[in-house]
Amino acid sequence: MITEQIKKAIRDIPDFPKPGIIFKDITPILKDPALCDNIINAFVEQLKGTQIDVIAGIESRGFLFGLTLASKLGVPFVPIRKAGKLPYTIKRKAYKLEYGEAVIECHTDAFEPGQHILIHDDLLATGGTVTAASELIEEMGGIVAGFSFVVELGFLKGRERIAPISDTLVVLAE
Ligand code: PRP
Ligand code: MG
Repeated sequence: MITEQIKKAIRDIPDFPKPGIIFKDITPILKDPALCDNIINAFVEQLKGTQIDVIAGIESRGFLFGLTLASKLGVPFVPIRKAGKLPYTIKRKAYKLEYGEAVIECHTDAFEPGQHILIHDDLLATGGTVTAASELIEEMGGIVAGFSFVVELGFLKGRERIAPISDTLVVLAE
């Protein structure tokens, strides 16, 4: 099954980028075109019935499957980027990290108010990034249609954090 294929392909890198962290390296997935195809098809299947007008992908690894998924669904893709990368007029959102603060940004013309935006990223960890993305989207008048992730780190309980935002959550592997 897709879950097993993903789990087999992801490479755990201990102590990266910091001691004590086990990094989930998804690059082996990207080298397997059949698996990439299966991932997109699994997203499409599990998102059936969800109203999605736009896919918002989170920089940077959320771009990898986000654009392909959008194109498969026939909807626009918009990038939510780290600070200082987007050239046009932007709306920004600062959010707290374990130590310090991060900022994400979106173009002000990325979508229309009232549109349903699916937030896509490769990995759900604490849920801090996608929570900030949801707040940004809502402040811009969008409706969060749900979330999709290739993989989840269940012990960080991101799922609980984002549950109040939307009932729609697709996670292909844990
Ligand atoms: C990782 C991952 C998610 C985020 C998850 O991105 O790709 O975007 O962290 O963490 P959270 O649920 O605790 O917010 P990272 O910041 O490492 O950047 P990258 O995608 O550009 O590699
Ligand atoms: Mg990321």
